[in-house]
Amino acid sequence: MDRIRIVFVCLGNICRSPLGEGLFRHKVDKAGLAHAFEIDSSGTSAYHVGELPDPGSIAVARKHDIDITDQRSRQFVADEVLDWDYVVAMDDSNRRNIMRLIDGDVDAIRGKLWLMRNFEFEEDGSGDDDGVPDPWGGGRRGFDDVYDIVDRSCTHLLAHIRRKHNL
Ligand code: 4NP
Repeated sequence: MDRIRIVFVCLGNICRSPLGEGLFRHKVDKAGLAHAFEIDSSGTSAYHVGELPDPGSIAVARKHDIDITDQRSRQFVADEVLDWDYVVAMDDSNRRNIMRLIDGDVDAIRGKLWLMRNFEFEEDGSGDDDGVPDPWGGGRRGFDDVYDIVDRSCTHLLAHIRRKHNL
């Protein structure tokens, strides 16, 4: 079976999407489904390419026994949109940046592009288009909030994918 390919996307790929990648991978591993997935994250900007996740994201993940220090920021590139089954943007600005990057090619991304919080309380992805708040430059408290939002959303996102792909 082909692996299910999923990428989490924010602006810098140092705060929010590394938590998306890390938490989703953790849940997939716990479910014994690592073989079924390819999981990655990226940012629409090149601001932090090559850098570790933000210390706030590393710390909040560590608090929950998840290590994300193997991650390095990379920029989302237009061509890769064809490679993914799920592209999960952290907020509407990220989603618009992705659409701009692919020159508004709605066919290339049809059925693939989601917002993280579409899944926060809804397994079918029908939730509100609220964004995951950007904790960059803010206090540690912001990272706890982001963690909780991403945690809830990834639980339902994984349930959605398992149902859809009979996993
Ligand atoms: P992220 O947070 O998109 O969640 O990684 C940000 C990181 C860096 C910047 C903005 C947001 N920045 O402007 O450098």
